[in-house]
Amino acid sequence: MKVKRLLVLLLIVLKDAGPTTAQTCSSSCSATECSCWDMGLTSVPQDLPTTITRLDLRSNAITTLSQSDLSRYRNLQFLRITYNPLSIVNDGTFDNLISLTELRLGNRLSSIPSNMPITLTTLLLLGNGNGITSLGHSDLSRYRSLEILSFMSQQIFTIESGTFHHLTNLTSLSLFNNRLSSIPAEIFEPLGKLEVLSLAYNNLASLPADIFQGLGNLKRLFLGQNRLSSLPADIFEGLVNLDDLSLGGNLITSLPAGIFERLGNLVSLTLEGNPWQCDCNMRPFKQTLTEYHDFAYDIECAGPANLAGQRFLDVDSEDLICEIPASTTKHAASCSSVSDRIFWKNCIAIKFWKKANCRKMCKKCLKQCSKCSKKFRKVCPDQGTRQNTCLQEFRETCS
Ligand SMILES: *[C@@H]1O[C@H](CO)[C@@H](O)[C@H](O)[C@H]1NC(C)=O
Repeated sequence: MKVKRLLVLLLIVLKDAGPTTAQTCSSSCSATECSCWDMGLTSVPQDLPTTITRLDLRSNAITTLSQSDLSRYRNLQFLRITYNPLSIVNDGTFDNLISLTELRLGNRLSSIPSNMPITLTTLLLLGNGNGITSLGHSDLSRYRSLEILSFMSQQIFTIESGTFHHLTNLTSLSLFNNRLSSIPAEIFEPLGKLEVLSLAYNNLASLPADIFQGLGNLKRLFLGQNRLSSLPADIFEGLVNLDDLSLGGNLITSLPAGIFERLGNLVSLTLEGNPWQCDCNMRPFKQTLTEYHDFAYDIECAGPANLAGQRFLDVDSEDLICEIPASTTKHAASCSSVSDRIFWKNCIAIKFWKKANCRKMCKKCLKQCSKCSKKFRKVCPDQGTRQNTCLQEFRETCS
């Protein structure tokens, strides 16, 4: 008897929590909003309240939009059709949507839909690795109310200069995860209100020196995961409000002196994942660092060989030198000019040098070096004082 009652109870519970097959988009609606994610919809339902201002159709199977799909929902302010295999947006689709301010579409569009409402303040065209390949200077010129604009994960590799020229109210621009290898010099200059700019995950190998000129309100700048190998010394000049800058995952080997000097509001700076060369090119930068620059902890030396793996902050300025040959052939070359004073400097570095074949190449050189090195240790027993005055003394003793 007890068991039977329990089973009945269980059945009721199961029925209540049961399959949602009966749920439709319209049953999820209030008078102002429909949230219809993940319902397998292949078109925009036509039985929704015409009073709705928000319609969320993310994660469905809609491939095409036409005028008849949306014309009855003329109060819409917010429309999201992301994570749909949407590839065709026909002319006239948005004709009746005179109040639309936020439009999020994706993810198989190969061009920017034409005739979107000029009332838009937010436009997100989310790709999934295929999609829009270029932005032309007239593609966006009508949408002057835009404040947030994102072309995430498209395939954009060219942007014509002037593309953002009229978007002076823009506060956030994302070109995250595209194929940009270069950017026109003055493209962002009119965007005086811009606060967030993402160029991360592109193929940028260099940036024009004045690319960020005019962006005095910029707070967050993402340049990570590109192919940048160097940065102009004054590239961040004028970004007085910047508080978050990421440069991680690039090919940067050294930084110009004082490059972060005027960024008085910087709170977060990401530098890791670059092949830093802790040589003479980094010395001026090191000398401008103060104890407040704790971001420099991120910098791990990838080279030269004798400093690989060391933290840049732990390396003395005097050890940031360029004479230490990077390759074995250079080692051999410098070993051959025994009389050269540089040779002795190299000898000191050679204690870190492990390449056996290179060792063989200048055995004689090493013999002298080790003789000299012994002497050096005698003259300068204290590791801590070896670097400066003692090094000088040692050179004179040995050469
Ligand atoms: C730009 O923003 C200002 C201030 O919010 C607003 O008054 C103006 O109408 C906006 N411009 C456009 C074209 O929407």
